[in-house]
Amino acid sequence: MQKLHGKYGKTVRTAPDEISTADTAAIHQIYGPGSRFIKSDWYSVWQGVQKTDLFAERNIAVHSNLRRNISRMYAMSSLTVLEKWLLAFDVIGEVSFSKRFGYLEAGQDDGTLRRIEIALQSLAWVGQLPWVFWLDHYLAPYIGHQLGLVLRHGTIRNFAAREVEARKLRGGTEHSDILGQLFEVQKEKPDQLPDHAIISVATANVFAGSDTTAITLRAIVYNLVTHPECLAKLEKEIEERKADGRLEFPIRYAQASDMPYLQAVISESLRLHPAVGMALPRVVPAGGMTIGKDFIPAGTIVGANAWVVHRDPEIWGSDAEAFRPERWLKGSKGEMEKYSLAFGGGARSCIGKNISMMEMSKLIPTLVDQFSMRLTHPEKGLTQECRWFVKQEGLIMNMYPKSKSAQ
Ligand code: HEM
Repeated sequence: MQKLHGKYGKTVRTAPDEISTADTAAIHQIYGPGSRFIKSDWYSVWQGVQKTDLFAERNIAVHSNLRRNISRMYAMSSLTVLEKWLLAFDVIGEVSFSKRFGYLEAGQDDGTLRRIEIALQSLAWVGQLPWVFWLDHYLAPYIGHQLGLVLRHGTIRNFAAREVEARKLRGGTEHSDILGQLFEVQKEKPDQLPDHAIISVATANVFAGSDTTAITLRAIVYNLVTHPECLAKLEKEIEERKADGRLEFPIRYAQASDMPYLQAVISESLRLHPAVGMALPRVVPAGGMTIGKDFIPAGTIVGANAWVVHRDPEIWGSDAEAFRPERWLKGSKGEMEKYSLAFGGGARSCIGKNISMMEMSKLIPTLVDQFSMRLTHPEKGLTQECRWFVKQEGLIMNMYPKSKSAQ
């Protein structure tokens, strides 16, 4: 898409009824607050036959009702209660179900990560042809499912359903978590948050919250080790704050969010490597819209791709391709964030942003403080593939505990 926009400009027609835009006014109109641009049919295959799906729901009223019911659990004020669980690697398991998946201890996962990957590979293309999904759905009783995406509706959802059921039997947990808070809302409004909706929210957490954060963490670590001058600045920020008592370990989010260079490194990594690599497709509402000089009729699918917008020299300057956290310290952060699509936009922006910001803000300084990090094969570089998420392969690192390397 970057090449196509480089060749054709701000607006590229990607299919007879589909447009990719990098026009900032159009992006604001499509994703800004109060937008009437609904999610396109591409999302229908994510929802399948499920009644509730926060991420994929295309009806504005249904979506906003569900979001209103659950959003306070994802607010920073609720998350600070869960904060002490946020240094665990199995964060999504902890904050969602108070249950570690145990992948780190085991050195491997139980196949869930591979299932998410297979489902994504399939979702990315079947979404372009939603009828393929419905054909698979209706033929499944005779020939079985042939599409990997059903894993989202099947195995991964079943995993969330098992946790929901197990919690009901157990009654409570030793610490507060999102599931517990969802049950609280269910008690108040049983008809608005039935069990199947709770299972959907939990499934979305597992599906949308683990890979995205892992991808961004990988991007941050890679950018730091390949830009030693930036790593040195972050080390200096950590040392200064340790010395005057503004930073202690285990690190608290309040301290990490107050570290300007750390936050700039995270913002710059989200800019250069947004986890979602496809346009976020929406439908032009009645009355159509105008992009630049072009009138786009109602019903057309429009979308903006973060990889294109985040590298636009008109927005970011001639060094748009360079990793330069300093740009976030000089310019107005709020102004720059207007052009950031890393977490989507408006009413459909990422509900888990606070969880991942907390996770990344705590993990990165801890890693930098405690380990010297080096690429094992610096000559090789990373490979990356876009299947909705842009996942990197080949980040092999040598990590030396700093206490030992100093001896
Ligand atoms: C660095 C980490 C993350 C990134 C880059 C990211 C990115 C995004 C993006 C781009 C969207 C908008 C998608 C669209 O318009 O189609 C989104 C939505 C969403 N994200 Fe995240 N996400 C991250 C972490 C998380 C976490 C930790 C969770 C849950 C625990 C989560 C759950 C969701 C959900 C449920 C939605 C749909 C929200 C709605 O439509 O109301 N995400 N995310």
